[in-house]
Amino acid sequence: MNDSTFKKNILCIGAGYVGGPTMTVIANHCPDYRITVVDISEEKIRRWNSDHLPIFEPGLKERVDRVRGKNLFFSTDIDRGIAEADMIFVTVNTPTKTFGEGMGRAVDLQFMEQTARRIREHASSDTIVIEKSTIPVRAAETLEKILSTNPNGVRFEILSNPEFMAEGTAIQDMENPDRVLIGSMDTPEGLRARDELLAIYNRWVAPEKIITTNLWSSELSKLVANAFLAQRITSINTISAVCESTGADVTQVADAVGRDSRIGSKFLRAGVGFGGSCFRKDILSLVYLCEHYGLAEIAGFWNYVIQLNDYQMERFVRRILHAMFDTLVDKKIAVFGFAFKPNTGDTRDAPSIYICKRLLEEKARLTVNDPHALENAREDLKGLDGAGFEQDPYKAAEGAHAIALLTEWDCYRDLDYRRIFESMEKPAYLFDGRNHLDHDALYAMGFNVYCVGKPDRDHFA
Ligand SMILES: NC(=O)c1ccc[n+]([C@@H]2O[C@H](COP(=O)([O-])OP(=O)(O)OC[C@H]3O[C@@H](n4cnc5c(N)ncnc54)[C@H](O)[C@@H]3O)[C@@H](O)[C@H]2O)c1
Repeated sequence: MNDSTFKKNILCIGAGYVGGPTMTVIANHCPDYRITVVDISEEKIRRWNSDHLPIFEPGLKERVDRVRGKNLFFSTDIDRGIAEADMIFVTVNTPTKTFGEGMGRAVDLQFMEQTARRIREHASSDTIVIEKSTIPVRAAETLEKILSTNPNGVRFEILSNPEFMAEGTAIQDMENPDRVLIGSMDTPEGLRARDELLAIYNRWVAPEKIITTNLWSSELSKLVANAFLAQRITSINTISAVCESTGADVTQVADAVGRDSRIGSKFLRAGVGFGGSCFRKDILSLVYLCEHYGLAEIAGFWNYVIQLNDYQMERFVRRILHAMFDTLVDKKIAVFGFAFKPNTGDTRDAPSIYICKRLLEEKARLTVNDPHALENAREDLKGLDGAGFEQDPYKAAEGAHAIALLTEWDCYRDLDYRRIFESMEKPAYLFDGRNHLDHDALYAMGFNVYCVGKPDRDHFA
């Protein structure tokens, strides 16, 4: 198919964890749409065009290989992409502000605004602009204000289409989503734009899974979905502390509670705390929104979820410290897993960053192992004394006083722990921050085993 025979030109601005995979899935299902993904980062685009993609996601590489150069293109020519596009997805990053008013809570919208201004300048015909980035409620209004000052008479229609995929299962989530949400203005033009986006999803998503709402409901739903997920993790984590004090077992409690169909069993796994680029930032954004509207009590409720998450990470560090005779000075700790969750190399806001920094403050020596996140881990712990990195878990554990498992990668279940135990300093400790391993077997081998929300298995206790 040459350029002129494609049914539509779709542009995606932002070639990150969302832009790359979502457009790859769309390109696989819509061979008659020409899809271009652009970014200001030349390095990212170079890697999207290589065999060494900038992100790791199961199932991604095969799908990129199938369509790249046919109807999926990666480019740094943003202006040309805008000029040629019928529809533009915006998937730029929307981090928490690190300066000025709202610092540490409000969303930093500078990348959104830069993108809107660029679209306004270079769009050559009527264009549908789709917010896929997670943004505060009523951000579409700001976009509209910027775009409507376009001097060329080009009309823009704004849609909200938040992305619900989770890293690690992104492709699976997009291929078979629980739901797709599209928010639009309730005007003939808004509804026509919505139908154009529906035509894309209809290629592979069942109609009953597609929800259409007004713009503000769509924007808010994304924040609320992430806040609820994070709050659920925090809820079970609070109970893990109660379990450790009382002798109850958090896995058994979660099972008993989660079998109530009104509650459900998912997201009830206790651990070292939630991480990732979205949960904290989206809750903070909700907190800021509530404060803006004078809803101090509601803001306080959601803010406390974050405080409890911080507490859970700190609790884990203290558990390590107290179990190991209240000093970690010069003790070697092998860190198993650094990514914020398995099956991704992403370490943004990973609990491992906080935990490793705290262990280093206690003057432990760390050897970090992770199957896909070592490149990012090196960046996250750059310049910190005592931080080392090792691709081989056996070497990472050699001579260590303890192992701290922080990400539940499958590969950690398959290791020969007897061999590992023999290579370690004694007494050998294992702190399972994700309740991922066979604790009885490890204890029987000689490890002192500590996990989240379960009784200690310590040979000296
Ligand atoms: N990562 C997730 O799991 C996830 C899930 C759902 C929603 N989201 C939301 O999607 C958005 C993107 O997240 P992400 O994880 O893909 O971020 P990311 O940082 O991986 O990617 C964003 C990309 O946008 C590019 N960019 C920034 N400004 C630009 C500009 N002016 N022009 C062109 N490119 C520009 C950056 O260089 C970067 O490559 C965020 O709002 C996030 O909250 C993320």
